[in-house]
Amino acid sequence: MLLLLGLFSLFILLLCLQWSHPKHKLLPPGSMGWPYIGETFKLYTQNPNSFFSIRQKRYGDVFKTHILGCPCVMISSPKAARVVLVSKAHLFKPTYPPSKEKMIGPQALFFHQGPYHSYLKKLIQSSFLPSAIKHSISQIENIVLHLLPSWSNSQINTLQQMKRFAFDVAMISAFGDQQDLEIERIKHLYQCLEKGYNSMPLDLPGTPFHKAMKARKVLSETLGKMIEKRRRNKEHGGGLLAVLLSGGGGEEEEKKKLSDSQIADNIIGVIFAAQDTTASVLTWILKYLHDNHHLLEAVKKEQDAIYERKLCEGKRGLSWDDTRRMPFTSRVILETLRRASVVSFTFREAVEEVEFEGYLIPKGWKVLPLFRTIHHSPDFFPHPHNFDPSRFEEPPRPNTYMPFGNGVHSCPGSEMAKLEMLVLLHHLTTTYRWKVVGEESEIQYGPFPVPKGGLPIKVYPRKKKFTS
Ligand code: HEM
Repeated sequence: MLLLLGLFSLFILLLCLQWSHPKHKLLPPGSMGWPYIGETFKLYTQNPNSFFSIRQKRYGDVFKTHILGCPCVMISSPKAARVVLVSKAHLFKPTYPPSKEKMIGPQALFFHQGPYHSYLKKLIQSSFLPSAIKHSISQIENIVLHLLPSWSNSQINTLQQMKRFAFDVAMISAFGDQQDLEIERIKHLYQCLEKGYNSMPLDLPGTPFHKAMKARKVLSETLGKMIEKRRRNKEHGGGLLAVLLSGGGGEEEEKKKLSDSQIADNIIGVIFAAQDTTASVLTWILKYLHDNHHLLEAVKKEQDAIYERKLCEGKRGLSWDDTRRMPFTSRVILETLRRASVVSFTFREAVEEVEFEGYLIPKGWKVLPLFRTIHHSPDFFPHPHNFDPSRFEEPPRPNTYMPFGNGVHSCPGSEMAKLEMLVLLHHLTTTYRWKVVGEESEIQYGPFPVPKGGLPIKVYPRKKKFTS
């Protein structure tokens, strides 16, 4: 009995020591779960959406919890998310697991704040402005026109194929349309690295993480040689690499030349950011269009009209203006980004003790703006579980729609992502039809949510009924 009492007192003492804070009463409401373990098991054994929504109902839009060894504050109101991501962004630094930082490269812009981040962001943004990406339409189209025939009359895994597509587009974004052995080698090494992204960060011989880190080292060296050659020959080539090598071009920029490893980390970072996100969204688009026949018909009508007009004019290849004449398909993309919310939330860390919405967030606590919860709130998106592109006939209310984030770290690739989706959808819907195999309604996370099994589909050529 005495032993039991002793253990119980020790447990209470541990709880008090762990969660006591001089201004404890000001911490946001919520449960920190068990000492050390926190609520990690609950998060991982429940649907993550239910985990967040149950707590939001119980505690409100700002609540605390404890997951994966970290005290966290969850944010699910547009106003509070804006404070963290935009107006007080300097108080909340981005934070990632150390293993991710090692794999992508510590000098990639995701991990930074302040002047280094702003400088890189300006360069990367300039590479993905509409004026810069409009010239890559024909290259994207080439990729699509090579890929789609390989799907015809066969069963494919949508996610895997979309990853192939998004990767090839990302390679063009990074290096321009250069196709040589060096690029093939870089592609191969990146694919070895990628296998370790979602593995346990166990750096022991034979583990996927260890193999990925070995590939990462060789990839850096290979990129390093390519960078050195381009610098030596004063031949910067194309894509983001050229922009990073020139440092923006002007004299002022010359002084701020980026080192080879800074360039390599950011090239790898952009490919990483571009691939799985875009592929997951495309996978959902095919699922939603398959499940909503009337919407698929409306997309086909819009795309057929563009196809027919091009046939009549005797023009080949989509132009930038064609992609601006796809309002319905664009709304399908916007609604998919909301409904699927593949980037469900993001992580920040308080750099100092912050007073926030009447609460106190201690230094070092993680802060997670929950994009998906906001996107699924009936206050901002009526009947949020319905897939309804028409809701985007009007722009969403400010700060309620953040599929590409918000503020200083928002996505520089958003226009590129939409462009490549439009180009692929144009050719897919005008030339092929698809049927989902199986009745799978569950979702897998790897790390982004996608239909379980990656959405196997059968693809068939479409019977053309065009007028000319
Ligand atoms: C549908 C596809 C995509 C989605 C949903 C998406 C979503 C996001 C989100 C939510 C963020 C902000 C993360 C945060 O605040 O912590 C972000 C950042 C970023 N994205 Fe995307 N992204 C997509 C495609 C792309 C593409 C195609 C590229 C490159 C061509 C790209 C490059 C980046 C980069 C470099 C950042 C980091 C920006 C910074 O830290 O300043 N993304 N993305």
